[in-house]
Amino acid sequence: MKEIKRIAVFTSGGDAPGMNAAIRAIVRNALNNDLHVYGIARGYEGMIDGSVKRLETSDVSNIIHRGGTVLKTARSKRFLEPEGRKLAYENLIYNDIDALVAIGGNGTFTGASKFMEEYPDIPIVGIPGTIDNDLYGTDFTIGFDTAVNTAVQAVDKIRDTADSHNRLFFVEVMGRHSGYIALHTAIAGGAGGVLIPEEESNIEELVKLLKRGAKRSKLFSIVLVAEGNQMGTVYDIARQVEEKIDVFDDIKVTVIGHLQRGGSPSAFDRVLASILGFGAVEALLQGKSGVMVGIKNNNIHYTPFKEAISKSKTFGKDLLRMAHILAQ
Ligand code: F6P
Repeated sequence: MKEIKRIAVFTSGGDAPGMNAAIRAIVRNALNNDLHVYGIARGYEGMIDGSVKRLETSDVSNIIHRGGTVLKTARSKRFLEPEGRKLAYENLIYNDIDALVAIGGNGTFTGASKFMEEYPDIPIVGIPGTIDNDLYGTDFTIGFDTAVNTAVQAVDKIRDTADSHNRLFFVEVMGRHSGYIALHTAIAGGAGGVLIPEEESNIEELVKLLKRGAKRSKLFSIVLVAEGNQMGTVYDIARQVEEKIDVFDDIKVTVIGHLQRGGSPSAFDRVLASILGFGAVEALLQGKSGVMVGIKNNNIHYTPFKEAISKSKTFGKDLLRMAHILAQ
């Protein structure tokens, strides 16, 4: 095994609150092990363009509480092509980078996996950073807790108007392929329903549920909708429900959108990011490569990239059943 002296870290894909805390932990633990640390700007894009900069301990001071990523991020199309990956490799060699830490989600680890097949001499360890919480091999991803807290705060505010006006609100949260944000926000926000990609649902069932609530003098309701649900856009759903129900004074739609991706990370996300960032450096020094560092039952857990991206995380069916019962 080649001795690791210089490592580089980058963030890729959608930003997530807590990424900065992970960068800080990586830099500080790497320096503690007498490694040189470099930051690559804008993920794989910066790797292709050679945007590589030395990081010292002061570069990561005063960032633990900041959302977004100080390294910036991108969804790189060029890295999908062999020519892009070749340029990226040449830049890493030019900068004498021995190993990489990749912070991101599914797309980031798909890219890392492909890169390692072609250039196995540069070990890569991944850290799950995405608000979606959709990666196999970790109970939580960095950013999820903060995103849920932001969404719950929004739902609490919407509740005031919903209650005052006897309205039905559909609130869309992020998650193209994953209902974790919607489910947790629905439970914590006391929602009257939740629609997620992992579960088949239809308008009739939803209408039945809302009518049942109205019969019990529930004159307002909030339904959480994951953007990737199976019934269409939140606007389509609201329109179809409006045709079948007349128990509410009005029906409104709120899309929380990118508001839920920004902001100062929660204490949970800062601790998680610190543990995973610290653990990623340990993993590289132990000779690990091609794995994502996650957390399972409060213990560090390593999952090969191939599994992290291809296997589905077991969705909390019991949690979902509970959410439906408590919503009634
Ligand atoms: O993967 C994180 C995520 O926030 C998803 O929940 C969402 O569907 C997507 O990114 C939005 O990406 P973008 O900011 O590139 O539009």
